[in-house]
Amino acid sequence: MMRNHPRIIGFLSQALNHEYGAVQQYLTQASLCTLWGLEDWAENFHKESREELGHADLLSQRLLLMGIAPTGGHLRPPRPGRDLLEMVSHDTLLERAAVDLYAEAEAFALRLRDPEAAALFARLRGEEEDHLRHLQEQCAALEGRA
Ligand SMILES: [Fe+2]
Ligand SMILES: [Fe+2]
Repeated sequence: MMRNHPRIIGFLSQALNHEYGAVQQYLTQASLCTLWGLEDWAENFHKESREELGHADLLSQRLLLMGIAPTGGHLRPPRPGRDLLEMVSHDTLLERAAVDLYAEAEAFALRLRDPEAAALFARLRGEEEDHLRHLQEQCAALEGRA
């Protein structure tokens, strides 16, 4: 039996909004890189956007199981950046916000003794931490190149 605590629903909805916002940001960056002729970077940002779409899918499934229609709501405007280093710096902020959101949601679900929600938030936190590490490495490599 799925529990419908209002704060869990709030975290799921906030997370879904975040994930669609991240899809939009990464896709915009992929499009820009294609226009700049940076095919490898375009593929890299496409891959990121697909991963965030996968997160949106997991959150949507969870909301549907709770009998709630998933909606991304009003998305924050993308911050693509004017060059690669600025792109990766903006994405680092995006991923840090995701890690913080999922850590807070996971802690709340654990306090509520809702192990299924806690497991979902923990999985997403772990994957956002991987994104963050990957971006920090890219940032360091780009800074070394500059
Ligand atoms: Fe994500
Ligand atoms: Fe991410």
